[in-house]
Amino acid sequence: MSRLVLDYNNMLAPRLGGRGIDPQRLDGMAERFRQAHAEVGRRRDAGEIGFFQLPYQGEVLDEVRTFASGLGQAFGTAVVLGIGGSALGTIALRDALVAPRWNELDDEARDYYPRLYILDNVDPSTIGPFLDRLDLGQTLFNVISKSGSTAETMAQFLIVRDRLGRAFDEDGYRGHLIFTTDPERGVLRRIAREEQIATLPVPPNVGGRFSVLSAVGLLPAALVGIDVDELLAGARDMDERCSSAELRENPAGLFAVLQYLAHTERSAPIHVMMAYSDRLYGVADWFRQLWAESLGKEQSRAGETVNVGPTPVKAIGATDQHSQVQLYMEGPFDKTITFLTVEQRGEDLEIPRAYEDMPELAYLGGHTMGELISAERQATASALARHGRMNMTLRLPRVDARSVGQLLMMLQIATVYAGELYGVDPLDQPGVELGKQLTYGLMGRAGYHAEAAEPPDPRRVAE
Ligand code: PA5
Repeated sequence: MSRLVLDYNNMLAPRLGGRGIDPQRLDGMAERFRQAHAEVGRRRDAGEIGFFQLPYQGEVLDEVRTFASGLGQAFGTAVVLGIGGSALGTIALRDALVAPRWNELDDEARDYYPRLYILDNVDPSTIGPFLDRLDLGQTLFNVISKSGSTAETMAQFLIVRDRLGRAFDEDGYRGHLIFTTDPERGVLRRIAREEQIATLPVPPNVGGRFSVLSAVGLLPAALVGIDVDELLAGARDMDERCSSAELRENPAGLFAVLQYLAHTERSAPIHVMMAYSDRLYGVADWFRQLWAESLGKEQSRAGETVNVGPTPVKAIGATDQHSQVQLYMEGPFDKTITFLTVEQRGEDLEIPRAYEDMPELAYLGGHTMGELISAERQATASALARHGRMNMTLRLPRVDARSVGQLLMMLQIATVYAGELYGVDPLDQPGVELGKQLTYGLMGRAGYHAEAAEPPDPRRVAE
């Protein structure tokens, strides 16, 4: 089995001309990490952190496989209605693990698996025209909401339901829907029961941003032919590696501790994840939510006001070398950069030899695009280190289901370790509640007040 590698040399002072983390300080965190590891283990055993169990699920996986290979793959198009943790993991899986520009390929090029769209917003200028173009008779809608009440997802659902209701009779309508939601609670579960709509469960102890390896991510993945067994096998590989309480042996522990030290002791609260692979950009986007929503907290677990949390940023190489890297290289020393890279890219493209009398072009001929993007990552990492900028590299052997399973699991485990280090609960998100309540008020939901949102003072509006 090929393993994910974390190269953190460039996080440490010896490579950064004295800036960066002192290796002895890292070793000095060994005991603190052992405690974090033990507490995470305790919460896992107590059933509080449910995502650890997902790679070992059997029954749900069978249900996913049966639905996908039966009814699901009979459709030409699958559309996920969901937002945040109910959408970003699926986007990451699709972009990493099926052919690029999947939805633009014809049926044969997709091996007759469906197209897969994920809405993840409520902007009418996107959604209206998108739905108008769909052939409803050929489309399956997977409504994903753990709570079964998120305004954005419910609005998407109501619009789709209305269109399905007008296009088909009652039996036909329900055949185009499958809900992924809490096994007992929420309005979506109630509708599923009353209207006999197919469902898959999201375990109650698995929050949205930790749900990619539940039916939330697995059903859409299986629909488009992603090897979900290998994905879960990769997650189990990583769970096994992270069973070690020894910091230097635990990749998720190292990632969490290095980011934590960089933030709290080296003044680097901005954590950039920069994918040198178009396929992995979705993982950087998914991680951005995971790290932000899990660690950005007002209260510590002990109930003190702490207002902590790193700021995750996503970037893409080589593109952002021409957009962001100037800032990373010479701006404030307030960032870490984690590169995502791949050893064997599979597909590659040779750069033809031409204009051999022009040194500006001649050197490129005979190399490949894969060599170029790898060289660019290596050069950027070294240049950052020479400028005293902390950076590390997560290297996948290949972008396949096994490696992506390892990567996603590692980042989820690192997030709960980081929660321990910051002293906050990575599983809740109280900060998004007020905004939700004000939205309900503005939209007229019973029991919520519209006036809760203050109108702007016209004297302070520039028109
Ligand atoms: O990670 C989270 O908990 C959130 O981002 C949720 O996934 C998001 O708010 C959608 O929630 P739900 O799945 O309940 O519709």
